[in-house]
Amino acid sequence: MSSNLSYAGMNSLCRNVSRSVHTSCALLKETPQNLKGKKHSSQQWLTRQLRDPYVEKAKQEKYRCRSAFKLLEIQERFKIFKPGQNVVDCGAAPGSWTQVVVNAINALGKADGPVGRAYAVDKLPFYPVEGAVTLGNMDFTSAKTQDMLRESMQGVKVDVVLSDMAPNASGVREIDHDNIIRLAYSAMKFALRVSQPGGTFVVKVWDGRKSQQLEQDLLRFYNRVKIVRPDATRDESTEMFLLAREFKGLKTRVDTSATDVSSAN
Ligand SMILES: C[S@@+](CC[C@H](N)C(=O)[O-])C[C@H]1O[C@@H](n2cnc3c(N)ncnc32)[C@H](O)[C@@H]1O
Repeated sequence: MSSNLSYAGMNSLCRNVSRSVHTSCALLKETPQNLKGKKHSSQQWLTRQLRDPYVEKAKQEKYRCRSAFKLLEIQERFKIFKPGQNVVDCGAAPGSWTQVVVNAINALGKADGPVGRAYAVDKLPFYPVEGAVTLGNMDFTSAKTQDMLRESMQGVKVDVVLSDMAPNASGVREIDHDNIIRLAYSAMKFALRVSQPGGTFVVKVWDGRKSQQLEQDLLRFYNRVKIVRPDATRDESTEMFLLAREFKGLKTRVDTSATDVSSAN
């Protein structure tokens, strides 16, 4: 990649993604007729999908995934997006949060008023979302990815950083918790560097022993932190979102390095 990437340049590069794409969160297109011979876990997943009203709703409203409704609820309740804002979406595949963001910030300029910019990144390849710089196949936690994102932003600070990143679940609750917390801290450190004062950070975790520490760490940098469990989060899930608002800004670089995240690693 060139070292001088503009928003437009990144977009045209990313439009060409047509390799294997992320589908784990994809909507079911057809009703499975015969579950015989399928693994028990697959049967459970399919049955749950069929009973899930958000899956149907996502299909009707053309969202790539039911997760859209979590962000829509957060937006409805807390009004975190405004037209004209710059937003980074970490762990964006297959792209339903990015779809919500593009509409909310007027990234396509369809409405009157200011036009925003959206950046979507995921370690899996995924189909570009119109109106967003879509970086598939890129591990957000790598310095290379974060440098590329920052270059693309050309020094413009962002208003909102989102992280819906989730590791592959091992099934062992503590391990999964530690892994998602590690991703959360990576997103938080990035947010501290790129956000403008007053900015917002939304991060997903699976609740566990390190959630409270994360909340406390966020409170050092944001005036308000709230725990949100949207209706679309499944009852059996330990998922929750930390909504951190009113970024205080960093006076010096030392402040960033003062973020002791070693306990999470
Ligand atoms: C729940 S899905 C996100 C769904 C998305 N918000 C949407 O609405 O379409 C979690 C995503 O986090 C991504 N992820 C996990 N670790 C990552 C990493 N290190 N870098 C980038 N993405 C990551 C996964 O590939 C997965 O696509």
